[in-house]
Amino acid sequence: MTDRIREFLEARRRAGRDVGPCLVVDLEVVRDNYTSFAKALPDTRVFYAVKANPAPEVLSLLASLGSCFDTASVVEIEQAMAAGATPDRISFGNTIKKERDIARAYALGVRLFAVDCEAEVEKIARAAPGSKVFCRILCDGTGAEWPLSRKFGCTPDMAPRVLEHAHRLGLSAYGVSFHVGSQQGNPNMWDGALKSASSIFRDLAERGIQLQMVNLGGGFPTRYLKNVPAVKAYGQAIFRALSKHFGNRIPETIIEPGRGMVGNAGVIEAEVVLVSKKSQEDEVRWVYLDIGKFNGLAETTDEMIRYPIRTAADGSATAPCVIAGPSCDSVDVLYEKEPYLLPISLEIGSKVLIEGTGAYTTTYSSVGFNGFPPLESFVI
Ligand SMILES: Cc1ncc(COP(=O)(O)O)c(C=O)c1O
Repeated sequence: MTDRIREFLEARRRAGRDVGPCLVVDLEVVRDNYTSFAKALPDTRVFYAVKANPAPEVLSLLASLGSCFDTASVVEIEQAMAAGATPDRISFGNTIKKERDIARAYALGVRLFAVDCEAEVEKIARAAPGSKVFCRILCDGTGAEWPLSRKFGCTPDMAPRVLEHAHRLGLSAYGVSFHVGSQQGNPNMWDGALKSASSIFRDLAERGIQLQMVNLGGGFPTRYLKNVPAVKAYGQAIFRALSKHFGNRIPETIIEPGRGMVGNAGVIEAEVVLVSKKSQEDEVRWVYLDIGKFNGLAETTDEMIRYPIRTAADGSATAPCVIAGPSCDSVDVLYEKEPYLLPISLEIGSKVLIEGTGAYTTTYSSVGFNGFPPLESFVI
């Protein structure tokens, strides 16, 4: 929570505009995060994962700082370009793309695409001839709070075939990518993936194809309730692993931070709508907020991301609570398996601050489930 955000929220309250939950993102924090990534990995290009927070102010700031962009759709490509990024600074990093979207990206000038199978390579060869492709390999997501396993990537032993297929179809077989899982708490998790990447490089070299790039993905964490290692520790661990597996022939590298770039830049202010118990004897109270899974806090699914929640009564006596959202859907419960300690004095109308919410909140918010509007967002 920065002073700038605190002042913004106070002014909003004074003006009586605090009628619903809102996210406030402090651009100064985003700027600091970008600088930390650039320092921790000085030879690596940063491709900000637009999906984490595509607010135009965030994208414009990052574009002006020299960032490139990892995009998941044509809309994200257009958002990055509107913020000032030229197409040579954009990667279409989703492995699942419609051919007409590949063609649209190509028409916009994008020449860098992710693949993880031969069928996707064929789409790119048809719709974006001559482009560079990198093949994503599977990672099991061990050590990550929000794993991205199974759905994306092929096994490392399949990647050479995919890349050779690309080469044969006139594409540039450019490199290998992986994602070690979002909110990855262990900097050493890049080691295994880099080992696989280096063996794919060797295999392709034997087939006469020189790969050039390793996309190290995202996964850099933000601080929620637990401390996380600093970006510097990730930079050091990654450099060690690169040297170990590639020796003195370290390839071009890129990273795609999303959460680590914007997570700690945002705070959501929300309000307690109801405090109740399910029976007289119940020891756990239910605290219902005006924000839930459907208007911004989707990452509480399976209680995977546990946000710090601050209140004006912090420091006073607490009791365990189930925290739930406002909608008429019983899935809309944030923390129940592991009840959350909140002040006993918390009551209807109390404000709560949910920290670390700059990433993966606004865009996860539904357009109007139960009539609740999408999460309001301010960038300061
Ligand atoms: C291809 C790709 N790159 C980067 C990211 C960003 O990951 P993170 O927010 O963990 O940095 C994601 C997240 O889903 C992704 O799918």
